[in-house]
Amino acid sequence: MYICSCRALTDKDIGTAIQEGADCPSKIYQSCGCRPDCGRCVQRIVTMLKERKQNMIQP
Ligand code: FES
Repeated sequence: MYICSCRALTDKDIGTAIQEGADCPSKIYQSCGCRPDCGRCVQRIVTMLKERKQNMIQP
């Protein structure tokens, strides 16, 4: 599923960037080799980061 339509980033792309250590939206864009355009996807990416962090904390 596309999260960022400007840069054609999918949830999988973003998940991979998070797994590789990206811990904020700017690092995720950087890891994916792009920069944000309209910024509409930033909140969704922040939510994904929070979800991943919560999942890592839970046993
Ligand atoms: S939707 Fe991601 S920068 Fe526009």
